[in-house]
Amino acid sequence: MFIGLDLGTSSLKAILIDENDRVLAEHSVRLSVQRPHDGWSEQHPDSWCDAARDALRGLAAAHDCSGLQGIGLAGHMHGATFVDAKGHALRPCMLWNDTRAHTQAATMDADPQFRAITGNIVFPGFTAPKVEWVRRNEPQIFAKTAKILLPKDFLRLYLTGEYVSEMSDAAGTAWLDTGARDWSDDLLSACHLTRDHMPSLVEGSDVSGYLRRDLAADIGLPAVPVAGGAGDNAAAAIGAGVVQDGSAFLSLGTSGVLFAATDGYRPDPATAVHSFCHAVPGTWHQMGVILAATDALEWLARLTGQSAAHLTTDLEPLRAPGKPLFLPYLGGERTPHNDAAIRGQFLHLDHATDARAAVRAVMEGVAYAFADSRDALAATGTTIERALAMGGGSRSEYWLKVLATTLGFPLDVPLAGEFGAALGAARLGRMAATGAGAEIAIPPAIARSVDPDPALTEAYAVKHRQYVRAYGVLKDL
Ligand code: XUL
Repeated sequence: MFIGLDLGTSSLKAILIDENDRVLAEHSVRLSVQRPHDGWSEQHPDSWCDAARDALRGLAAAHDCSGLQGIGLAGHMHGATFVDAKGHALRPCMLWNDTRAHTQAATMDADPQFRAITGNIVFPGFTAPKVEWVRRNEPQIFAKTAKILLPKDFLRLYLTGEYVSEMSDAAGTAWLDTGARDWSDDLLSACHLTRDHMPSLVEGSDVSGYLRRDLAADIGLPAVPVAGGAGDNAAAAIGAGVVQDGSAFLSLGTSGVLFAATDGYRPDPATAVHSFCHAVPGTWHQMGVILAATDALEWLARLTGQSAAHLTTDLEPLRAPGKPLFLPYLGGERTPHNDAAIRGQFLHLDHATDARAAVRAVMEGVAYAFADSRDALAATGTTIERALAMGGGSRSEYWLKVLATTLGFPLDVPLAGEFGAALGAARLGRMAATGAGAEIAIPPAIARSVDPDPALTEAYAVKHRQYVRAYGVLKDL
């Protein structure tokens, strides 16, 4: 038996699986995000530990865990967790969609060694510029900082007592030499840091430590190995079997991700595509990341006082895009713009625009944002022929049709069951505990494929071109 813990932005999910990937128990705990100022997005690290303990207790209560062999961790990426010499969090974690450090990011990005060594733009949401923001704005916190940890690695510290990270998440800090899979001393020193501020590095499938005996006894679990694990996207890829070159997934979660496994390290920072290490040794991946996917729909749900589920029922059949055009840049955008200042836009509203038309426009706008990521990936030489559809938003058949038609490739919908980051984490736990490798990262059975509607692809392509022009016109307004 293996446990996967996925620290998501809106909840922490724990699953217990057997050797056949069958889910024996699961337990989720809600988490909240604090946005005290425009562009800020924070979570208190202690809330992750409380949630993990509750979730593990939930699993232990639901199923006999005496045969547990390993645990794997996944988590939202890029967060900056400042830890003092005793291992306590010094301030709330600045999350992946916190863009307050855009000035610091631009300064770092202008220093050519960052793109050359990391293979990526220094995005405001990445870890390094946030640390620089704290160094300048909260020097008393920076002075007390002994280690800087990514979110799931802070959880690992709580679970094992070890300061360890792994390649896939470390690649999103702007301090990793992504090709060499090691911290870059030059980049750390450019940020007034040294290797001592960093956790040690393992591969996602390696053992990073063991569940603390006192905690294990308290929860009622054996003190098993904890794998390096992965950032949530690489973990989702392990859960979905997206490891071989040419395989891809599209995730409609809080953020939107178009993820492609690659057969080597192929960085192209100018495209704003992310080129990161994958979670198993000697592998890499690329992805386009949009900051608000289901988050955009949640925003509209709050605005209209209705639930997102209610808003998205009875939208069928798919028809040509409506008049209103929505740009989902509610908190800025990563791929392809790297623009922290842009905000969401609703264009071409008229008297006939009702809530239903607004919902369609939001779903279409997110699809156009994905089309931008498709084009950015294509510019690096990565063409996607089909992709697995994942994430909460993929429960909407209508949204999948809009996406497939806009993107021009089929989306494969897995059979109901577990295939996301929690499963990927559990599989990494199994690799660490048993020595298994990427061969256990098998794709899920596919329930059906959602094909592009050939009668409508041109209409969606035309609207996507309008969307691209709209950004060009509005970005400086
Ligand atoms: C990836 C990214 C998000 C987070 C949140 O670069 O920022 O997908 O990992 O899940």
